[in-house]
Amino acid sequence: MLFEKIIFATDFSGTSARALDYVRRLKDAGCRQVVLLHVIDQREVHVLLAEPAGFAVAEGEYEAELLAKMRKNAETKLDDVRRWLEETGLSVKAHLIDGIPATEIVRIADAEHVSLIVVGSHGRSNISQILLGSVSENVIRHAKQPVLVVRRIEKE
Ligand SMILES: Nc1ncnc2c1ncn2[C@@H]1O[C@H](COP(=O)(O)OP(=O)(O)O)[C@@H](O)[C@H]1O
Ligand SMILES: [Mg+2]
Repeated sequence: MLFEKIIFATDFSGTSARALDYVRRLKDAGCRQVVLLHVIDQREVHVLLAEPAGFAVAEGEYEAELLAKMRKNAETKLDDVRRWLEETGLSVKAHLIDGIPATEIVRIADAEHVSLIVVGSHGRSNISQILLGSVSENVIRHAKQPVLVVRRIEKE
């Protein structure tokens, strides 16, 4: 089957949730295995760490605490998505990775030999003027596999 093994990359945004529903519906196109990926954006981590840490907490301690919180939060959300997909009858292999989202999506897609990449058109920054977010745009530009881009619902 052409789309037996696919990758779905999520940032847990509303548009990602819409894309997730297409992943479920891809069962009708032969999809059986989903590589589920969330990337803890290292640029976002650096931005957050540039914020004033406050006087009470030593810098190193603050950094470790922040990273642990981000990871814990992402683990919980990724686990929810995994369970939801498994309940629809798909087999799931989840990856939680530190890095730059588009780079990791393209890399894991190759490493896992998927035949399709599913992403949302937008994510959490959801800037209304732009046609595509930078992650979806860079995935389309660099991926070897076809990319299914699920549009957000435009607000009036
Ligand atoms: N950190 C991430 N990990 C995995 N997938 C991501 C990540 N960030 C974005 N994506 C994927 O790319 C899609 C588009 O997001 P993005 O290009 O970042 O738009 P925006 O600029 O609105 O945040 C998301 O719906 C999701 O499928
Ligand atoms: Mg984004």
